[in-house]
Amino acid sequence: MSETMKKYIEEAESALLHTYNRYQIVLDKGDGGHLYDIDGKEYLDFVSGIAVFALGYNNKAYNDALKAQIDKLLHTSNYYYNVPAIEAAKKIKEVSGMDRVFFTNSGAEAVEGALKAARKYAYLKDGKTDHEIIAMNHSFHGRTFGALSVTGNPHYREAFRPMIGNIKFADLNDFDSVLAQVNDKTCAIIMETVQGEGGIFPATEEFLTKVRALCDEKDILLILDEIQCGMGRTGYMFAWQKYGIKPDIMTTAKALGCGVPVGAFLLNKKVGENSLVAGDHGTTYGGNPFACAAINKVLDLFKEDNIIENVNKVAPYLEKRLDELKDKYDFITDRRGAGLMQGLVLNRPVADVINKALDKGLILINAGAEIIRFVPPLIITKEDVDDMIEILDSCLGDL
Ligand SMILES: Cc1ncc(COP(=O)(O)O)c(C=O)c1O
Repeated sequence: MSETMKKYIEEAESALLHTYNRYQIVLDKGDGGHLYDIDGKEYLDFVSGIAVFALGYNNKAYNDALKAQIDKLLHTSNYYYNVPAIEAAKKIKEVSGMDRVFFTNSGAEAVEGALKAARKYAYLKDGKTDHEIIAMNHSFHGRTFGALSVTGNPHYREAFRPMIGNIKFADLNDFDSVLAQVNDKTCAIIMETVQGEGGIFPATEEFLTKVRALCDEKDILLILDEIQCGMGRTGYMFAWQKYGIKPDIMTTAKALGCGVPVGAFLLNKKVGENSLVAGDHGTTYGGNPFACAAINKVLDLFKEDNIIENVNKVAPYLEKRLDELKDKYDFITDRRGAGLMQGLVLNRPVADVINKALDKGLILINAGAEIIRFVPPLIITKEDVDDMIEILDSCLGDL
């Protein structure tokens, strides 16, 4: 590591709040599926800013669209209309089949909005203020208080209690555990269609179908968090589209902006017409022209560059190559995931492997202490998979 990089890291550690144990590299620029640190070292990136840079780094068409919008209008209040937001709303409605959208600045804020919409829907039905929400153990929905309250990991919540009230927890893919928590006060069930931070656990079709039927029967709202697993990552624009079910409320973020901080919650017609109204919810930046120019271009490029087709071409190859590693090393106990959202489960901590990979020019990240997570840009090729496997294999061999 150069003296310059060392100095930057020291400066970072003396100025930034220490809420992350950061890897010891200072990143400088990106191109396609590769990143470069300030010493000029190249890295193959299988993290994409944690499922953000779906289109890869330094995409010219995307960058040009942002530059053009900067020269026109960066921001205006939500009290006025702007064309990029109108276009973005039409496009996201089209790809999701949802009815109404509210643009936010982040994933956590999208979750906050989704929870508020659910509570307001229930309030308008019976005028009560004691409604309950069921969330999943091992889930992750963000760090703000509402999102944290439905995050099924006590470790993240403990020091910040009390959380928002009336949240209960069930187990993903255990329908009886959901049933056990349902009562007349239940207004919503929230889950990630594929759990990300909690360890790459896809919801099963059987579970989702049963929960959907339960929600229909009792007029409980199904909220699917697609912030990490959405936007093409699983081979569908949104992971739930594989299962023939549809949420009442959906959240998205991360790859929706491909680097510009945006998010959104979307409502079906029933909830759109019977929940939040003027004065109930707002944001200064959410849905501003710059953010929406990013969303517009991302959604256009997904079509023009056949991003989802690429996921469906490369993902089975990634699965095959990861399965080969699983067969080779007996300390790898499982490989699971959907599309280009995969996890390799070891029977030991993976931190060493990830640090070794970084030394060898491969960026990986964990999902829990014993799972290596693969969430690469969606533009990767089979050759990138081969390059990644070669480096990872040598790191695993060192174990
Ligand atoms: C499923 C899920 N929901 C919500 C969030 C929170 O999003 P943000 O970090 O943009 O607030 C994340 C972030 O990792 C996530 O993976």
